[in-house]
Amino acid sequence: MPVGSPAVGDFDRVWVNANLCTMADGLGVVRDGAVASKGGRIAWVGPREALPDTDAAMTDCDGAWLFPGLVDCHTHLVFGGNRAGEFQRRLAGATYEEIAREGGGILSTVRATRAADEETLVAAALPRLDGLLAEGVTTVEVKSGYGLEFEAERRMLRAARALGRARKVSVTTSFLGAHAVPPEYKGRQGEYAALVAGMIAPLAAEGLVDAVDAFCERIAFTPEETEAVFAAARAQGLPVKLHADQLSDLGGAALAARFGALSADHLEHASAEGLAAMAAAGTVAVLLPGATYFIREERHPDIAAMRAAGTRMAIATDMNPGSSPARSLLLMLNMACTLYRMTVEEALLGVTRHSAAALGMADRGALAPGLRCDLALFRVGAPEELCYWIGGNPCAGRVVAGEDA
Ligand code: NIG
Ligand code: FE
Repeated sequence: MPVGSPAVGDFDRVWVNANLCTMADGLGVVRDGAVASKGGRIAWVGPREALPDTDAAMTDCDGAWLFPGLVDCHTHLVFGGNRAGEFQRRLAGATYEEIAREGGGILSTVRATRAADEETLVAAALPRLDGLLAEGVTTVEVKSGYGLEFEAERRMLRAARALGRARKVSVTTSFLGAHAVPPEYKGRQGEYAALVAGMIAPLAAEGLVDAVDAFCERIAFTPEETEAVFAAARAQGLPVKLHADQLSDLGGAALAARFGALSADHLEHASAEGLAAMAAAGTVAVLLPGATYFIREERHPDIAAMRAAGTRMAIATDMNPGSSPARSLLLMLNMACTLYRMTVEEALLGVTRHSAAALGMADRGALAPGLRCDLALFRVGAPEELCYWIGGNPCAGRVVAGEDA
């Protein structure tokens, strides 16, 4: 090639006339930028004026803001029924924990989920999934944990996989058999934890499990029981995650760090030491402001301690029928900023790069060459508007692996 002639890009598609938040280094703003894809991956990102010559199909973004596709890294999207009635009871004074202790709460969703077949579970979950996708989500994690017996847990995980086939979205699954103690094991909690540990290998053999999660809490599993489940996950080579220190401090954050967990989630009651241990282990803090808000938890995660320790923070919906019926990841951005006083940059990293890290997905979460070409286009004047508006949906387009979705 003669010196000085423009490089010619071998691209499938190019997006131009967009402002970019690459999220590769902070917000990574590029005004009047361009993104090019090849084979479903990002091949080039930068200012439009530097885009190599190409005859690839060109999409004009009309000045909108292009982000990496959003990643909702903690949901319980698949479940039967709902708990609006329980919500009404809480309005009359009952607490989330009281209802759980009476056999309501998670166990009432277990009854409805056990009674539903796979098709029913998928049909109920699809509108919830569609709400997330409409706002620019391209990757979503889905947990089991309302079956609490082998076949029902399996059905939930199969339903989650079916969601990934029904829509253009990456679905990643977490097996949460250790979510609550089923009624038939009341008083034999350790036995149930051992049973859960034993479910991991057969479910993983069917390709249904991407990670293993547990609920370590005084209304759920002890740290010792959690460790038994994690040991079984480790034996299968599966990464772990933990619902940690949501209602009380049982040392869940440090436990998760000890196991090199991908993430520890909730963390309202986590200690500064636990959060620092997470930073050292590379365990991401998944913050769930919808749950803080909906169960009116007065204590908030210690953002200052996480900043001081360098703990990466992600934000997710926790979409579930009991503690966070949140069907909007954009609303969670506003809540994270308003309730937790997170910055716009922290919040936006929390639904992109850091939430991808919370799923162990190094191939997404930013606009950078080599990563998957998952994009979300927003008709806003500035990135901070994604955190600012309450309601309304500025998402104007989604791209999954280089294709319009
Ligand atoms: O993430 N913390 C435990 N599990 C869910 C709540 C599930 C439910 O109440 O149904 C959560 O908040
Ligand atoms: Fe959860």
